[in-house]
Order: sequence, then C-alpha cells, then structure tokens
Amino acid sequence: MTAVQGFVRQIDLPQIHDPRGDLTFVEGGKHIPFEIRRVYYLYNVPVDAERGGHAHRELEQVVFALSGSFRIKIDDGREKSEYWLRDPRKGLYINRLVWREMDSFSQGAVCMVLASHRYDEGDYYRNYDDFLAAIRVAAE
Ligand code: TYD
Repeated sequence: MTAVQGFVRQIDLPQIHDPRGDLTFVEGGKHIPFEIRRVYYLYNVPVDAERGGHAHRELEQVVFALSGSFRIKIDDGREKSEYWLRDPRKGLYINRLVWREMDSFSQGAVCMVLASHRYDEGDYYRNYDDFLAAIRVAAE
C-alpha cells in the first residue's frame, strides 16, 4: 500500500519490537488526524462477506487490520483504487465523501476502525447515486 490522494492515505504507527512480541500504540492528537470519538471492530467475518458499501457526510476514519487481511475498494466519485490491509502498523485514513467497500477477509481477520464521530445513521450515504449527487454538489 502506498500513500495516495487526499481522500485516502496511509497512516504509519510505531512498533516496539521485542522477542516477547511486538507492540504498537495509537496516541490521540499525534498519530490520527482527528479526535477519536469512537472505536469499533469487525470480526467473525465470513470469507465471502462484503462490508461497507457506503460513504459518509462528515465522518473520517482510519482502518486497520489488527489480524489477517482484507481488501478495501475506494471510490471518490471520479477515481477508483483498492488497498490490501494486512499490517497492524499501517492504517488507511478515509476522508468524508468517499465510497468504500470491503471484502476478501481472511479467516480470523480483525478490522479495527478509529472514527471521528459517534455512530449516526444520518451521516451515511448508503445509496451510490445519492453519494454521486453529493460529490457533484461539493465540487461546485
Ligand atoms: P455498517 O456501518 O453498515 O457496517 P459495515 O460498514 O462494516 O458493513 O453497520 C452495520 C450495522 O451496525 C448497522 O445497523 C449500524 C450498526 N452500527 C452501530 O450501531 N454502531 C457503529 O459504530 C457501527 C459502525 C455500526
């Protein structure tokens, strides 16, 4: 995964390597470009499941694969790209107004998400055409 456009980018976390096991930490105000107001994680995800399939009006997120791997497909309404997350030290920052879909979860994968706001269903675009319309308005 390489750093890319402003709407997604790689976030690198520190790693304390130790024969007893590796340790990685996240400090608010330092590693994440927003105040963390929510943490959630996906687990027990069937290998053929598809998650996401939405964008957000305001929410910013950083997604990590704490264990295993999965794919995130990104669409800013103009360009599409995809990233494989598999390193617990490397997160994917996803800005607002970005359509994302996640699939190809490995057996036992754990996806942790740091989010800029608490859960609000009203913040979601779950319909792709509504998302595209919002992108057009934002670009005016
Ligand atoms: P959703 O965001 O659609 O999951 P994903 O993008 O991973 O496929 O959320 C699935 C369900 O969980 C939906 O009913 C909303 C609920 N939910 C919460 O109640 N709180 C949360 O923080 C999140 C992320 C989801």
